[in-house]
Amino acid sequence: MNIIRAKDYDDMSRKAANIISAQMIMKPNCVLGLATGSTPIGVYGQLVSRYQEGDLDFSGITTVNLDEYRGISRDNEQSYYYFMHDNLFGKVNIDLTRTFLPDGMEPDSGKACQDYDRVIAETGGVDLQLLGLGHNGHIGFNEPGPVFKAQTHCVKLAESTIKANQRFFASADEVPKEAYTMGIKTIMLAKKILVVVSGADKAPILKKVICGEITPEVQASVLQLHSDVTVVADEAALSEL
Ligand code: GLP
Repeated sequence: MNIIRAKDYDDMSRKAANIISAQMIMKPNCVLGLATGSTPIGVYGQLVSRYQEGDLDFSGITTVNLDEYRGISRDNEQSYYYFMHDNLFGKVNIDLTRTFLPDGMEPDSGKACQDYDRVIAETGGVDLQLLGLGHNGHIGFNEPGPVFKAQTHCVKLAESTIKANQRFFASADEVPKEAYTMGIKTIMLAKKILVVVSGADKAPILKKVICGEITPEVQASVLQLHSDVTVVADEAALSEL
């Protein structure tokens, strides 16, 4: 793994945006795998500024997001669809018909997952996958458990994830208990992977992800097996390494 040390959150966001910008410039019709959560917000802010300055063009880009809550509609402010529009898609010249997320409103989970795997396959594969890191080591919503799940699947969110995501909702009761997430095989098939991590609260899990045993109990540890992973983390997140 290539580890890039950033001073703080802003520096992490700039450094990660540099990598995504380079990818977009070198391959203007590339497929970007995108993530939600609070960590990548600064990265998206950077990409929007660069677009506004005329340095980035999103017109040929295709995006596939990692995950979406189940049972939440696109116009719900807490949906990941809404998040992506708010932070990126609504602010750049991307072709919205080329932006994909799992359909959280599809009640048939088998269909929702198969449809999304087909969508990802039809893009031709992800060139660069952006990932955040959950406090329990999850990537997308691949929660700790006995196995790595290959394809898009429906997950029951871990209690700790519901608690962590409660800050975006009025109460824990309103946090959806399930989500559709891209599977580990799909993530691992991305040509390049970029992980952004910020804050001292992520330091213990980041250490396990980079130096620990490869285990589905820490889903992100599987990234040790990928040949092109860059972690951009701030000093606080790297403080245990
Ligand atoms: C969320 C998302 C993940 C994200 C993670 C960390 O639940 N499904 O894709 O990486 O949790 O979020 P944050 O960056 O807010 O710590």
